[in-house]
Amino acid sequence: LVLVVDYGAQYAQLIARRVREAHVYSEIVPHDTSVDEILARRPAAVILSGGPASVYADGAPRVDPALFEAGVPVLGICYGFQAMSDAMGGRVERTGDSEYGRTAVTVEEPGRLLKGMAPDSSVWMSHGDSVTRAPAGFTVLARTDGAPVAAIEDLDRRLAGVQWHPEVLHSQYGQQVLEHFLHDIAGCHRTWSSSSIVDEQVRAIRERVGDRRVLCGLSGGVDSAVAAALVQRAIGDQLTCVFVDHGLLRKGEAEQVRTDFVAVTGVDLVVVDESERFLAALAGVTDPEAKRKIIGREFIRSFEAAARRIAGDKGIDFLCQGTLYPDVVESGGGDGASSIKSHHNVGGLPDDLRFELVEPLRTLFKDEVRAVGTELGLPESMVRRQPFPGPGLGIRIIGEVTRERLDLLREADAIARAELTAAGLDRQVWQMPVVLLADVRSVGVQGDHRTYGHPVVLRPVSSEDAMTADWSRLPHEVIERISTRITNECPQVNRVVLDCTSKPPGTIEWE
Ligand code: XMP
Repeated sequence: LVLVVDYGAQYAQLIARRVREAHVYSEIVPHDTSVDEILARRPAAVILSGGPASVYADGAPRVDPALFEAGVPVLGICYGFQAMSDAMGGRVERTGDSEYGRTAVTVEEPGRLLKGMAPDSSVWMSHGDSVTRAPAGFTVLARTDGAPVAAIEDLDRRLAGVQWHPEVLHSQYGQQVLEHFLHDIAGCHRTWSSSSIVDEQVRAIRERVGDRRVLCGLSGGVDSAVAAALVQRAIGDQLTCVFVDHGLLRKGEAEQVRTDFVAVTGVDLVVVDESERFLAALAGVTDPEAKRKIIGREFIRSFEAAARRIAGDKGIDFLCQGTLYPDVVESGGGDGASSIKSHHNVGGLPDDLRFELVEPLRTLFKDEVRAVGTELGLPESMVRRQPFPGPGLGIRIIGEVTRERLDLLREADAIARAELTAAGLDRQVWQMPVVLLADVRSVGVQGDHRTYGHPVVLRPVSSEDAMTADWSRLPHEVIERISTRITNECPQVNRVVLDCTSKPPGTIEWE
């Protein structure tokens, strides 16, 4: 286990993923975790992440020097490197030479950390302060124009630090630097792989569940499918899957679950049509968070009803959910980070939940979930599916959700997806929400008639993990085909607009 101490930037999750790509299991802990708590988890190494603060600012998070005397290997990155240098008696100064973005670095002495790195390479920086004197006992390995001490190591104490961000793809040799720390300095073993995840989870699920029964809600997405397949591997037919048709699904969703999942795994599947219940609960609701809460609550109510029907008085004790590690971290469960949206499977749970939860993917990142799915024999079409939010089209209708609006959006979405697939862009585009601006109307002319219809928004994005995203530069011909087809085939839609906002500042979904 490697613990990544989160100093409050977005980078902690990326670091944790890169560590796992080096086949070492990692978790994120908040920066106010005490050294005793850290050591109690017996980490093989600790990585201090970057963060937005200056070590001089009032209330800037500090690192307890006791960490460096505990004998555990530590790597400081960016802010973590400065906090570490400061805590150990080095000097950190506001030199006025801030560096942001791509920066040239000169390797003076590769040591073990920078072994194999070209003497001049380019790395990703984001700092205002700089370490100007390394703490005693460290060798200085590299410098940049703005950072006289850009990388250090002390092999005796197994401590190291870098000013740049080795975890981002723009840093050349970045993964290599992390791996040198993990494998050559800290001595971590390569034990983390999709087969080890499967073995470990299967064992944990068996132990926890025993001979009791588990209900799993399938959404059609990768996460719930992989979670269900894992549980099935562990306990076989003690698992029953329920597919709740909440009326907020895309076209063809239910059939796809049957062909890509049930046909492959042979799980016991019950499909329930709960669209009346959801639409009734959503009537008149326009606030995004209120919609999410309602949908989350009705999901659970639907499961409970299905469980009663399936198991009668005996009931079902466990509910399996495909909650991922980023959901946990983003909902504030993994650290003190503020909650931006309540993901329906974490923040939206009702207080009087009657199930115990089984969440076998709770510690995994999306790419790991896909690898586990493949390991479990699920088809590419399932494992590579683009993400679709649990609250479905309910959060892609801006305004009140009604059956007519859902039917309209379903058609527009099906057209957009079909054209994206036909253009061979499914892998390149992370996902493309189609959003109906149901409360907006504009004047148009269709078939010589004046129309007063609604716009739909195309929101194609490229992303690595949905934490950040860029809008996809789709070929104009593809946009044109989508636009023409939607305005021809969906009579109430007379405009198609393109969302060209990255995340941040926009989120991927509109609600
Ligand atoms: P945002 O809109 O926060 O979305 O940029 C990030 C990713 O998460 C998906 N998403 C959800 N997935 N339940 C889910 O299972 C939800 O409540 C939910 N909200 C957003 C979104 O589609 C994108 O991939």
